[in-house]
Amino acid sequence: MLDYQAILEEIYESVTNVENKGEVAAYIPELANVPKDKFGINLQLITGENYSVGDSAEKLSIQSISKVLSLTKAFQLVGNKLWDRMDVEPSGNPFNHLSLLELENGIPRNPLINSGAIVVADILLTHLKNPKEDFLNFVREISHDHTICFNNKVAESERLTGYNNYAAANLLKSYGNLYNNVEDVLDFYFHQCSIAMDCKQLTNAFFVYANKGKCLKNRQHLTASQVKRINAIMLTCGFYDEAGEFAFEVGLPGKSGVGGGIVALLPQCFTIATWAPGLNPQGNSYLGMQALEQFTTKTQLSIF
Ligand code: DON
Repeated sequence: MLDYQAILEEIYESVTNVENKGEVAAYIPELANVPKDKFGINLQLITGENYSVGDSAEKLSIQSISKVLSLTKAFQLVGNKLWDRMDVEPSGNPFNHLSLLELENGIPRNPLINSGAIVVADILLTHLKNPKEDFLNFVREISHDHTICFNNKVAESERLTGYNNYAAANLLKSYGNLYNNVEDVLDFYFHQCSIAMDCKQLTNAFFVYANKGKCLKNRQHLTASQVKRINAIMLTCGFYDEAGEFAFEVGLPGKSGVGGGIVALLPQCFTIATWAPGLNPQGNSYLGMQALEQFTTKTQLSIF
């Protein structure tokens, strides 16, 4: 039997002693204020045990990690109709690049790059009665934590500097792949990205993807087949132009966010969340990737 607590502590020791070459995301001014030396891990086993180390109970801005949760809600609502409006191929490009969107006539490469997540937000706006409130309640429900909230300051900060996302939304609109107003869709999108959660809440939320669609309280939220598809998208697209590197180094489906969080999972085994705000040039947590590489190497637990 592996001593998971000892493994997390070894990783903590090792990772907090290497030079943190990452940089906090300054393009969202509110995120630039987060101290770069934060570092935490939470590990949730499918059998119920939970382990943590470092700043794992501090809130981080989940940012693009929210794209998996919005995709999940949209998949619940419209099923395979989703794929009429976006593809499921890795983009090989940074998360906010617009060039492929134009070349491919307004059909985003996948739901985890910004343009794809904006289309997912549009779908939620069409299908939810009170979109922001209903989505937040969904996140609270699968995380079993009714204290989870938007950070309105982060959402507003991103809105004020969100030129690239405005460009993506306008381009989508020009191709007829956005049904609601640009302003309304982006208001929803900036809010979903601003959700604040800690590492433990993240491993709770992602439990469904490790447990064939059932949450920690054993309620079925997704079919096993939908889970298979979302995990495949996380593996191939969850780290943008670094998805290959993440599969190579870590070997798990997962998702990163520019708040420095990463959540990853091994089906039928565990979910793990790391937080280290310094990002590498691809926008993925510099130390989080190293911590996860060490975890799957030390435990020999990966999908490969
Ligand atoms: O739209 C954006 O640029 C941010 N709200 C989210 C980007 C993000 O987290 C990319 N992930 N690593």
